[in-house]
Amino acid sequence: MTELQKDPITRGDFLGFGLLGTVVGAILTIPPVAFVLSPVIKTDLLGESDIDEGWQEVASVSDIPTDEPASFTIEFPIEQIYAGPDVQNQFPDEKRSDEEFTLKNAVWLSWKSEINHDTGKIAKVERPSFLDEKSSGFSESEREELKKNINVLSNSCAHLGCPVRWLINLDGKGEFLCPCHGGLYDINGTYEGGPPPRDMYRYVNVKIEEDGKLYVKHGYDIEPGLDKQQPYVV
Ligand code: FES
Repeated sequence: MTELQKDPITRGDFLGFGLLGTVVGAILTIPPVAFVLSPVIKTDLLGESDIDEGWQEVASVSDIPTDEPASFTIEFPIEQIYAGPDVQNQFPDEKRSDEEFTLKNAVWLSWKSEINHDTGKIAKVERPSFLDEKSSGFSESEREELKKNINVLSNSCAHLGCPVRWLINLDGKGEFLCPCHGGLYDINGTYEGGPPPRDMYRYVNVKIEEDGKLYVKHGYDIEPGLDKQQPYVV
């Protein structure tokens, strides 16, 4: 008589897989780190920002492609404060960590563009023509014109902060897509569809130097007092 073949998966294995699936599922649905850390990093227990408010170099304007965005990484130094007012009053020299931290952010740079509403494709790019002649030595008025025509966007989705990607579909239409819940934005960061309640976050403090280098300070176009618009950007 043939011996009954043993089931290769025992009941214990099966339950184990179930538990593993639950854990993996939970991890995948945890909001991105930007969301989790946001309240910690944005303000400390004294209500101050821990993030360095100085200028950070992003890229040179000549590095911005003509008709698609490019992402650049910047690192904001953070001065971590880890004690509340009571502890600080007691130990005034111990309130700050000796460790050095940085906050990495990705910035999307692109030229402001007119979009053809029928095709969704870029119809006109506002890239100043003097960039064909030179990549540095910009006058003040040229720097103003450059600044006016560049989108400086955070890559944290305005819904729950997932990093957005630039994708071009088979019809040649490019857009920012958020992989978490399908949020969509055009090249200017304008909201197109999905759950995000607003356009992509813009850096509000931007400067361009004579040599064409673009700098930002930490800070976004978040309107104060908008209770329903909880920012998920760090
Ligand atoms: S985080 Fe939900 S759509 Fe981007």
